[in-house]
Amino acid sequence: MKVEFSVLRRQYQKYEKEWEEAGLRVMRSGQYILGEEVRQFEEDFAEYLGVRHCVGVGNGLDALWLALEGFGIGEGDEVIVPANTFIATALAVSEVGARPVFVDVDSCFGICADTIERAISKRTKAVMVVHLYGQPCDMDSIMEIARKYHLYVIEDCAQSHGARYHGCLTGTFGDAACFSFYPTKPIGALGDAGAVVTNHLEIANKVRLLRNYGSKVKYQHEQLGHNSRMDEIQAAFLKVALRHEREGTYERQKIAAKYLKEIKNDRLILPRQREETEHVYHIFPIFLAEGFERDAFCNYLRTHKIHTQIHYPIPCHLAECYKELSYHVGDIPYAEQCAASEISLPIYAGMPMEEVEYVIQIVNEFS
Ligand SMILES: Cc1ncc(COP(=O)(O)O)c(C=O)c1O
Repeated sequence: MKVEFSVLRRQYQKYEKEWEEAGLRVMRSGQYILGEEVRQFEEDFAEYLGVRHCVGVGNGLDALWLALEGFGIGEGDEVIVPANTFIATALAVSEVGARPVFVDVDSCFGICADTIERAISKRTKAVMVVHLYGQPCDMDSIMEIARKYHLYVIEDCAQSHGARYHGCLTGTFGDAACFSFYPTKPIGALGDAGAVVTNHLEIANKVRLLRNYGSKVKYQHEQLGHNSRMDEIQAAFLKVALRHEREGTYERQKIAAKYLKEIKNDRLILPRQREETEHVYHIFPIFLAEGFERDAFCNYLRTHKIHTQIHYPIPCHLAECYKELSYHVGDIPYAEQCAASEISLPIYAGMPMEEVEYVIQIVNEFS
């Protein structure tokens, strides 16, 4: 049996008629940029989250740096970023000219109040909170520390659509939250798309201007802006994806529950789940126990035709692009350990149960 890491075609086929209707509707409308579809998706997504404002943008990375720019963060400022995240979280900080200050994560892979507090300096303006793998961070203590030091909190929800902390959706805690709708995400478009959500009207208005050349009225440019707009066709697709978020999430949660219950191998460590959270398992990470070689395990899975990925092999502070920040191996130990030992097993809505069972069997037989 061959097990792919993710098969987007299966997700497309499940709602084929709805995707095609949405696409055709836009193609036939003659309106392709910033029209009714984007406006409606923004309204639907804000309502789904229970926030006041949603601004559709080009992708998740743009959402992050447009939000930072919206808060006026730039040169001379520092922003605290978990070292264990996709590089986009850090690149957004660099994009606005600020400096990312990398910190370690807790045993559930999230940034936490202690490490944030130790990294605060006079220049610190904000914290990027990444709900990695689809698991919410410990938002109560993070918000408390952020309020104490008057820091903005920007949630990076690129992996956590539908995830809940103490019953509340991720994306509703911080001063703003940023979403990616890359096709593999829990709510995915059929191309690139992203959004900034916030309860602050001023920030929403600022991001609205910034995404569209600094202009509200055509050819009147109030400030220096950019071009990062969500396409009408992606907004139409996203209304389909949003409608089916729960079904997809339940499917992944079912697979994750099976992995957690049935994977039994002393060489592997299963992921910890934070209490009182709903994890949406965008990614299912497992870790090689100390002393065991990840390459050997990866090769073993490959010979059994099981495709895996690593999220992420190099922690941000050791990325080549950040060498001028002069971090060294050993500076951020737990993030480094995760990077050296993590493997992501296949998990996606539409993954056949026999493939899940095959993965469990092969993983359990690894010796
Ligand atoms: C944690 C995180 N932040 C940001 C992004 C960037 O999103 P996009 O690919 O839409 O630019 C991603 C995308 O994979 C991500 O995983």
